[in-house]
Amino acid sequence: MDSAKTDLLKEVADYYAEKLAEHGRTPQGVDWNGEQGQILRFQQLSQLIQGHGGAFSVNDLGCGYGAFFDFLQSEYPEFSYLGVDVSKDMVTSAQSRLGPATQARFITAAEPDTTADYCVASGIFNVRLGRGDAEWFDYVRDTLDVMDRTSRRGFSFNCLTSYSDEDKKRDYLYYADPCRLFDLCKRRYSRQVALLHDYGLYEFTILVRKSS
Ligand SMILES: C[S@@+](CC[C@H](N)C(=O)[O-])C[C@H]1O[C@@H](n2cnc3c(N)ncnc32)[C@H](O)[C@@H]1O
Repeated sequence: MDSAKTDLLKEVADYYAEKLAEHGRTPQGVDWNGEQGQILRFQQLSQLIQGHGGAFSVNDLGCGYGAFFDFLQSEYPEFSYLGVDVSKDMVTSAQSRLGPATQARFITAAEPDTTADYCVASGIFNVRLGRGDAEWFDYVRDTLDVMDRTSRRGFSFNCLTSYSDEDKKRDYLYYADPCRLFDLCKRRYSRQVALLHDYGLYEFTILVRKSS
């Protein structure tokens, strides 16, 4: 990994470690406003998995304290889960919360160490701190390449939307153009791509299915 990328990931990890230290293992501790929005995001992202009969595996890139694991457990009887986070503190908190006895494994990294049926990422492209648009877009694309490489059946992710009200936007956050990312996914990863921009948050979700 080049040093610019290492610096970027360290800044992101420090940002989230601070949120965790301030708010603990709560939606606010991973910089969400509340549980309702966090779950609503999981519902969008997991549309990728709906209809999968039987057991499956998931890589959760940017897992935080592992809330998506709880969501999956409430919805699906049989799955295996790898949580990946750049923040060591997040991983430690997820591990101590869920314990070694579950079917969850966690690693501190920016890439899964194994391929899974699905890869999901909730909230990892939002906080760009001082990075410019071009640099952040390249980072998003490189990260989507990782999600593509480490998933067999597909991947899903969300981003804040460039259609957000101008007066609500903040400089340290990245507001992605949903049409540009839809186009990127369609041309680069799969013909089967869905753009979900109808769930009431200032963001959108993209599902990339590799097999129908
Ligand atoms: C907004 S929080 C969401 C956490 C979790 N997905 C949830 O919804 O509860 C984003 C998390 O992703 C992690 N993260 C950000 N960029 C990442 C990357 N490129 N690779 C791995 N983890 C990342 C952060 O450390 C943080 O814990």
